[in-house]
Amino acid sequence: MSKYYITTPIYYPSGRLHIGNAYTTVAADAVARFRRIMGDEVFFLTGTDEHAQKIQRKAAEAGKSPKQYVDEIVDGIVELWRVLNISYDKFIRTTDDYHVDAVQKIFTRLHEQGDIYKSEYEGWYCTPCEAFWTETQLDGGKVCPDCGRPVEQAAEESYFFRMSRYQERLIAHIESHPEFIQPASRRNEMLSFIKSGLEDLCVSRTTFDWGIQVPFDEKHVVYVWLDALTNYINALGYPENTAVYQKFWPADVHLVGKDIVRFHTVIWPTILMALDAPLPKQVFAHGWLLLDGGKMSKSRGNVVDPVILAEKYGVDAVRYYVLREVAFGADGNFSNELMIQRINSDLANDLGNLVSRTVAMAEKYFGGTVAASGAAAAPDDDLKALAMETDGSSSDAINKLLLSNALADIWRFISRTNKYIDETTPWILAGDDSQRPRLAQVIYNLCESIRLIAAMIQPFMPDTADKIHARTGTDDIGRTWNDGGEFTVSKGPALFPRIDLEKEIAELERLTV
Ligand code: MSP
Repeated sequence: MSKYYITTPIYYPSGRLHIGNAYTTVAADAVARFRRIMGDEVFFLTGTDEHAQKIQRKAAEAGKSPKQYVDEIVDGIVELWRVLNISYDKFIRTTDDYHVDAVQKIFTRLHEQGDIYKSEYEGWYCTPCEAFWTETQLDGGKVCPDCGRPVEQAAEESYFFRMSRYQERLIAHIESHPEFIQPASRRNEMLSFIKSGLEDLCVSRTTFDWGIQVPFDEKHVVYVWLDALTNYINALGYPENTAVYQKFWPADVHLVGKDIVRFHTVIWPTILMALDAPLPKQVFAHGWLLLDGGKMSKSRGNVVDPVILAEKYGVDAVRYYVLREVAFGADGNFSNELMIQRINSDLANDLGNLVSRTVAMAEKYFGGTVAASGAAAAPDDDLKALAMETDGSSSDAINKLLLSNALADIWRFISRTNKYIDETTPWILAGDDSQRPRLAQVIYNLCESIRLIAAMIQPFMPDTADKIHARTGTDDIGRTWNDGGEFTVSKGPALFPRIDLEKEIAELERLTV
């Protein structure tokens, strides 16, 4: 049995999360579930990143203390993950005592060994991103390279992490570990960024106090990334050499959005080098879910709140949609209309109809129980072959975190199974008594295909997989085709009721004015 440690970024509790935010965590959940099914010992970590300066500002605006403010929002995030069926093993809050304690110990250690020193910071500062930028990074402009908003000159006494010291080691590591940054396009981007020269990193601030105190210099609080990134080891008990830390570190994959790759592939590995700890095996950057080609925000006609979407269309429809729509490395497009179209075509038509037609035929022709008869014919081998090929290709795709590809593969098999019904024409076989054994074999093959489809979609759509298993009277999640046996089916409501697109769009317009 091997171990598998997967993390999501820890989220800023600065407002309600939207469907784009949910993408990272749903993706990590699908991978974690798949690995568990495959027999790995999985540790799946998520949490919240609570010491951002903008949180202090928002709390003040809301007339609350920062802790009061984040507590309420974190409750909402935990609830969102419950609704979306997120099977995390641990939820870390950067305000948790053990994390605060660990960050202080790490800061002190790095200071004592000369990796953190006190100096004065002068530079261009982007307040919303909480990032200092160098002249070169601004490239002549006076706007933040990340968000495009104006930057301002700022100077203050700060502690610095000697990141520059690790530049060559980091380059060597990235060059000798092609799998470290994925996809490869991000890797090239990061390599040229690092080669342009790493500066030391500001790791403390004195102008606000919502943060972890520097233990030996009380007017300083630890400044974001040293606090945020170390969550990945602190959650395992670091700096104590706990059994959990020993077992799970280094992480197998940090799953992150493309906007935070730089922090995870430059700052994080250099901190770990300074701590003499192993580097994560992989940082995987996924694309974004965009709304009308831009960032998610409130928009007329589009509901982006995942809780409302899950209530309206079901959790699994939401999970399916985001995972299918964001392809490897690229951005995906979100709109309620696209989502409804996918629900109608992929879920209601392709998958839902396959299950309901098969169950209905098994009931009509065999009173609900159908056994393999051995009466084979030409299309059977093709169906079986594609079933096994799909298990292999979709598993490979998940192992490479190509979740959209995995779903596309599974849906190709679903279409193939639907086509099998048209090829074998069970309703014609049913009119001829001598064809009874063949009819039984056809319906058996359909049930067996559906059983395998349920097994393959389980990591992505766990509730739907359970429902399908109940309809086909089996809980067998084995992924190899069984030639013998029987199924006892039972009817149920449509897995994914068809949505009237026009009516629904009108309703969404009303909801979002
Ligand atoms: N707190 C930092 C991460 C620290 S990790 C040590 C942060 N938080 S965040 O709340 O702003 O973002 C959390 C995740 O959501 C990031 O991976 C980010 O890329 C992702 N997304 C935010 N908007 C998104 C979309 N529209 N689409 C897909 N992912 C998006 O960054």
